[in-house]
Amino acid sequence: MKNTQTLGVALLIGSIAFSGASIAGEASAEALSYTCAGCHGTNGASGGPAMPSIAGMSLAYIVESMKDFKSGERVSTIMTRIAKGYDEDDFTKMGKFFSAQNRHSANQSVGSMAKKGAKLHKDNCEKCHTEQGTVAEDDSGFLAGQWTPYLRYTLVDALDGSHDMGKKMMKKLNKVHEKGGDQDIQALLDYYASLK
Ligand code: HEC
Ligand code: HEC
Repeated sequence: MKNTQTLGVALLIGSIAFSGASIAGEASAEALSYTCAGCHGTNGASGGPAMPSIAGMSLAYIVESMKDFKSGERVSTIMTRIAKGYDEDDFTKMGKFFSAQNRHSANQSVGSMAKKGAKLHKDNCEKCHTEQGTVAEDDSGFLAGQWTPYLRYTLVDALDGSHDMGKKMMKKLNKVHEKGGDQDIQALLDYYASLK
């Protein structure tokens, strides 16, 4: 165990030195991403249920999110503190790095209401979150395969007004919530967990 760890560190240092010697811009993007790996996983593929995977999100969405965290427009104690340490150039570098990674599907169990969730999604969410919420260019993060505990608290924040997701989305989300309550929110989450 000890040996593999030592080897890992040696490889890591080696790769920083190597990329540093080759293309300076790329190296700093990758180096910047190491700060994020502790929470969002290596290359943005999160291993923890409360942390969103950010691999494969669009450049625009990552940059916008970081700017909104920094300004406080999007409320998050952790991310606001982190974003304050960087400028817009850094956000672009990070965004380029993470948007170039493959989208990651969380390894999580799927509840029993995925079928109902599929219909709710089609009727209320598909218009903006196209192709089951897999498309990076939708500029809204991923729904398919994202950790559902993260999606759950994100939706709770949206419903109670602490994360502004736009009038049009809130109209649909409120409609689902008013008609079907938490059960229908759970059905949507079951559906997203069922997608790879
Ligand atoms: C200490 C843990 C931690 C670190 C380190 C961290 N993040 Fe985050 N990040 C979070 C949490 C928690 C959220 C969810 C925030 C929320 O919406 O409340 C988040 C959300 C995000 C989002 C929005 C994802 C979405 O689906 O909307 C982006 C983009 C992001 N982080 C990028 C980064 C980048 C880039 C770095 C490295 C500079 C980074 N984060 C470092 C914890 C962390
Ligand atoms: C009119 C377009 C639109 C509709 C309809 C819509 N959304 Fe969204 N959604 C967005 C946009 C834009 C964002 C990004 C908001 C932001 O973070 O500023 C978003 C963000 C989200 C997020 C946060 C993703 C993340 O990574 O943090 C979730 C979860 C979500 N939507 C779920 C839903 C669900 C469930 C429905 C259907 C009930 C729905 N949306 C309907 C446009 C829409």
